Amino acid sequence: MKPREKATTQQPVYRVALLGTKFMGKAHSQAYRNVNMYFSDAPKVEQAVICGRSPEETEQAREAFGWQEASTDWKAVVARDDIDIVDVSTPGNMHCEMVLAAAEAGKQIVCEKPLANTLQEAERMVAAVESAGVRHLLMHNYRRVPAVALAKRMVDDGRIGKIYHFRARYLQDWALSPGLELVWRFDAKLAGSGALGDLGAHVIDLGRYLCGEVAELAATSETFIKQRPVEAGSSEMADVTVDDAAALCVRFANGAIGTIEASRFAPGRKNHNTFEINGSKGSLTFDLENLNNLKFYSVDDQPDTQGFHEIIACSLGKHPYADNWWFDGHLLGYEHSFTHMIYDWLRALAAGGSTHPDFHDGLRNQRILDAAARASQSRSWEVVG
Ligand SMILES: NC(=O)c1ccc[n+]([C@@H]2O[C@H](COP(=O)([O-])OP(=O)(O)OC[C@H]3O[C@@H](n4cnc5c(N)ncnc54)[C@H](O)[C@@H]3O)[C@@H](O)[C@H]2O)c1
Repeated sequence: MKPREKATTQQPVYRVALLGTKFMGKAHSQAYRNVNMYFSDAPKVEQAVICGRSPEETEQAREAFGWQEASTDWKAVVARDDIDIVDVSTPGNMHCEMVLAAAEAGKQIVCEKPLANTLQEAERMVAAVESAGVRHLLMHNYRRVPAVALAKRMVDDGRIGKIYHFRARYLQDWALSPGLELVWRFDAKLAGSGALGDLGAHVIDLGRYLCGEVAELAATSETFIKQRPVEAGSSEMADVTVDDAAALCVRFANGAIGTIEASRFAPGRKNHNTFEINGSKGSLTFDLENLNNLKFYSVDDQPDTQGFHEIIACSLGKHPYADNWWFDGHLLGYEHSFTHMIYDWLRALAAGGSTHPDFHDGLRNQRILDAAARASQSRSWEVVG
């Protein structure tokens, strides 16, 4: 990677083109905007161009999110010589085409999850970035929530011992109303799958991050509401072509076993991304709805005070990323995980390396999603390829 250099300072500057202007467009924009303010050792970024489909909305996003230019022609932007990083924050149906174009143009690439809508697309994307020799980052941002990064450190340091169980759920409730129109997330052509690839992909990634590779699995899924209005308020209906919920039973290569559940039909669960790990030396539990905290039970604690205790994972000098933000216990949020991802990515790029999760992780996650879809159909155990 040869970063662009500023004549006056000789510091590397990475100019970014962001494809997507809405939910993830905004989340990624704040990460690029904040990373140099809070992480003084981060290589410099410039928010060069934001791309969307509607000229008005894209211009509004440019102005609100701090980008230099707005464009509705992503292909022209990706081909520009003054762009170093292409960030793909569009729905899954566009990931493959955009990544292939960015790799062809020699850009470093950030892509939202899940990497692709199909296993075949994911394989093409990995082949393209490898043959182009460009770096790649997959935005499974929950790895960079400080409490999750702390959990990873504790697992790696052996503080949980040999892992027996990984038990994860990612539950939301926004799809409950039958009157909700057929947004892209209900359309397999645009989204690939439903709760499985949208929510399940995140906890599958956390399972691999914290416990290791998944060897085989059984799964089931269901579409509870089979048709929805084509538009808000319309009486015309169209088929929902994705799952509303999925449940996986997994065996890890290291002998641990686990369960993974994803649903958009869990009333009261707004963004309930939670896991529990049980090992020979203790247990860890995490819930994104209380994301600064990690609960830890140690078998070595004194018996009379033994129990789960709660770690507030934002103390200076003690916890991942904490030194760059506020004083002890001043708490972080969802958006900080994106800034941490971009920070690690920029530092890796400047050092000529890369960071995880990358597209290889995305391909492994996709193999699990693919095996889960197969298992759900076959109602039998499937080996993860
Ligand atoms: N990491 C996370 O926590 C997280 C959360 C939500 C979504 N996602 C992922 O982010 C991606 C985007 O989801 P979202 O919620 O931001 O969607 P969204 O509907 O809010 O925004 C999609 C954006 O893509 C743009 N777009 C779509 N097709 C395009 C095209 N052909 N050319 C140019 N722009 C195009 C739209 O204009 C819009 O700006 C998906 O892959 C999704 O799974 C990740």
